[in-house]
Amino acid sequence: MYTSKISGLGSYVPENVVTNDDLSKVMETNDTWIQERTGIKERRHIKKGDGNSTAKMGVKAAKIAIERAKLTNEDIDLIIFATLSPDMYFPGGGVQVQDLMNMRTIPALDVRNQCSGFIYALSVGDQFIKTGMYKNVLVIGSENHSGGLDMTTRGRGVSVIFGDGAGAAVLTRSEDKNRGILSTHLHSEGAHAKELSLMGPSTEHWVPEIIEENPQEDIPYYPYMNGQFVFKNAVVRFSEVINEGLQANSFTAADIDMLIPHQANLRISQFVQKQFKLSDDQVYNNIQKYGNTTAASIPIALTEAWENGKIKEGDLVVLAAFGSGFTWGSAIIKW
Ligand code: UT7
Repeated sequence: MYTSKISGLGSYVPENVVTNDDLSKVMETNDTWIQERTGIKERRHIKKGDGNSTAKMGVKAAKIAIERAKLTNEDIDLIIFATLSPDMYFPGGGVQVQDLMNMRTIPALDVRNQCSGFIYALSVGDQFIKTGMYKNVLVIGSENHSGGLDMTTRGRGVSVIFGDGAGAAVLTRSEDKNRGILSTHLHSEGAHAKELSLMGPSTEHWVPEIIEENPQEDIPYYPYMNGQFVFKNAVVRFSEVINEGLQANSFTAADIDMLIPHQANLRISQFVQKQFKLSDDQVYNNIQKYGNTTAASIPIALTEAWENGKIKEGDLVVLAAFGSGFTWGSAIIKW
């Protein structure tokens, strides 16, 4: 029986910084509201012509992760690509990464689990390694939110929160049972699918139909979020799934060296921190700089925490996410 360890991490965010004041020039919002409700000060948005896309940002993050793992593209056996904002309706971003990185004909798998996308992708990669099928799996989370947000006052409840970026991890086979990914825990509750969703264009909601159903709206295919309902579910599910992971490995909250929550809202992270009685240096947050980057948020934060020396050999690292689906999950890692 093998385990997977994270052998390399990388991240990439576009250069273009969009502050809360910048947003207040195009919609009715303000820095105080955004910071008080979400903790966000600024986020990154792809700028037209800057050469970025969901797949291309994923590639930039992946190259760093592979180099840090001291591997080459030739060593990667499988690509798992998590996003809710692919460059194309189909195929998914995984095959674009495969092509851009000249990775022979290795398989590319797309994961569509929104904010939980990276944890789901990590879990899938971990299973492939545990069974012995693959040795090195490249897991990417990447999002181009700015390409599809309603940047008018109508969309402000959603648009101020989300940012662009990518993060990547290389999972490598290890024979040390006590290190690496100890367990992953995944859940979903499709009854609340519509509470945080983008209904169309899709086969059920094609463009002409949407326009017919919403004659008053000019472009009605933007993300919808029932913010308070999502918030209330998030705080409960985050706690549940972290506890589930700790219990499965006979740990308690006191054993956590670093919790990296999906960067949904600083208030959600602070609530979870309080519930588990963790100090500020046991929780890593960077939503202040990047906003919510959905599937990219955990690998970006994990990479930054590692780069800043906040994760050391032997540390117990807990990853947890909740989001659209609803889907949620956690990963318990002995570094
Ligand atoms: O990552 C996936 C998971 N996502 C989440 O976990 C997000 C969870 N939800 C949240 O983070 C919060 O619900 C939000 C940050 C989205 C919203 O915060 P809230 O405290 O729940 O505010 P609200 O939606 O109840 O809105 C309060 C008021 C409303 O005005 P009225 O009706 O009280 O007059 C909104 O119209 O704030 C107004 N508002 C804004 N004002 C200024 C909404 N968006 C904005 C804005 N700027 N951007």
